[in-house]
Amino acid sequence: MNQSSKSPKIIFVTGTDTDAGKTVVATALLYSLAGAGYTTAALKPIAAGADVTEQGLRNDDALQLQAAATLAHDYQDVNPILFTDPIAPHIAALNEGVALSVESCVEQCQTVIQSDVDAVVVEGAGGWLVPLNDRSSMADLASALKAEVILVVGIKLGCINHALLTVEAIENSGLKLLGWIANHLHGEIPESAANIASLGSRINAPLLAEMPYIEAVQSSALSAEYIDVSLLKSYLD
Ligand SMILES: Nc1ncnc2c1ncn2[C@@H]1O[C@H](COP(=O)(O)OP(=O)(O)OP(=O)(O)O)[C@@H](O)[C@H]1O
Ligand SMILES: [Mg+2]
Repeated sequence: MNQSSKSPKIIFVTGTDTDAGKTVVATALLYSLAGAGYTTAALKPIAAGADVTEQGLRNDDALQLQAAATLAHDYQDVNPILFTDPIAPHIAALNEGVALSVESCVEQCQTVIQSDVDAVVVEGAGGWLVPLNDRSSMADLASALKAEVILVVGIKLGCINHALLTVEAIENSGLKLLGWIANHLHGEIPESAANIASLGSRINAPLLAEMPYIEAVQSSALSAEYIDVSLLKSYLD
């Protein structure tokens, strides 16, 4: 399905919060896109939280995304900016003496962004307005990457407020919200269906999928079955 004359579509996966399920959803999305015949690449432009491995410092989110893409890229291309401590990126950058900017980040994403694939799935860090420095945020990075956005809503008490604030902020950034995903990361909570219906009637973008609770979820437990990418067809084709 790849049309090599076209640039890949950039899908930026954000969440209502850290731990909302961005990595789980982005990984499932990569499998679903592949299952539907699309070629993919993955990006975790900025990660905070590294494990020491024989290959060097690695972030687990980036490794999962790297493994789920159809086109293999070197780790440094998938995750060009990695901070050791699992803390807010702009604070990690200050602590490590790194100048973090949208421009340098976009530059370091170019190998993946210019891949000969249909879609690049990008996972942000934290939520939509997480700062990168004194002036810019993750929203500016998504904008500079010319991305369209999928919002992962971690279903829990309070998620309606978080989701609607995030949707408003995405709209204020001038970016298109392709859709949202209800992620049942805590299993069933009281009135989860009513919460999702309340969001559905207030978010002006489709509910792309409900991600079920998957006990001890790991990327190996994820597959193409969770997200129906046919709703993204008009964007991807
Ligand atoms: N559908 C689900 N079923 C069961 N557990 C889930 C589900 N979604 C997420 N989790 C668990 O919740 C935690 C947070 O998920 P995940 O790492 O995908 O969030 P995230 O938004 O990517 O977090 P971060 O901001 O750290 O990148 C993980 O332990 C993950 O395994
Ligand atoms: Mg993650």
